[in-house]
Amino acid sequence: MRSDGDDLEGAFRRVCSGGLRLQDAPTRDSSARRQRAVAHGQALFNSKPIQITGVGGLNDDLGIATINGTCTTCHNAPNAGDHSVPLPLSIGVADASRRTPDMPLYTLRNKISGEKTQVTDPGRALITGQWKDIGRFKGSVLRALATRAPYFHNGMAKDLGEAVDFYNTRFGIGLTAPERADLVAFLKTL
Ligand code: HEC
Repeated sequence: MRSDGDDLEGAFRRVCSGGLRLQDAPTRDSSARRQRAVAHGQALFNSKPIQITGVGGLNDDLGIATINGTCTTCHNAPNAGDHSVPLPLSIGVADASRRTPDMPLYTLRNKISGEKTQVTDPGRALITGQWKDIGRFKGSVLRALATRAPYFHNGMAKDLGEAVDFYNTRFGIGLTAPERADLVAFLKTL
């Protein structure tokens, strides 16, 4: 019977003689795969086209129905991922249609027009009292995302996959399953 010491010595000799190449070791392979996923995820974050429509604070304020953007249109502060200029936006997180039973539901009435709207959080409007600010929130810093699930101000995405799913549905981005996985791999490194 061979002892562990013999095995180790034998393995060492095989490596030295070229019988076992280090780059074949499974850990190296999976780390290269992970690096490729993160790099691809970063490229998606920077360049995957998103047709930005119906975002309060962006489309309405600028008077542009569709903005051809990317994740970085809004998450544009270098190395932080929030807005370099504070710009509260309504991307639809507080919409009544996305309410789960654990969230409140506010019905707000416009004093001038009589118009009514329902949201799970009035957002910026609580500070300004302005109708247009209902449901607007500051873009979050994306640093250290992996350490603080759940996501969005109301915690409606339990993990980063669900956060990406929200965008994929909300803006019809058309991310494939592998693209979703790579984008999540990238977000986990921030
Ligand atoms: C139209 C602007 C806009 C675009 C485009 C956008 N985001 Fe966001 N993002 C926001 C805002 C605003 C928030 C904060 C919303 C909230 O908490 O209600 C946010 C929050 C997030 C969060 C949650 C952070 C946290 O700490 O809870 C993640 C993750 C995120 N965005 C990732 C992305 C990714 C990935 C993309 C591209 C697929 C993207 N965003 C595109 C505006 C945008």
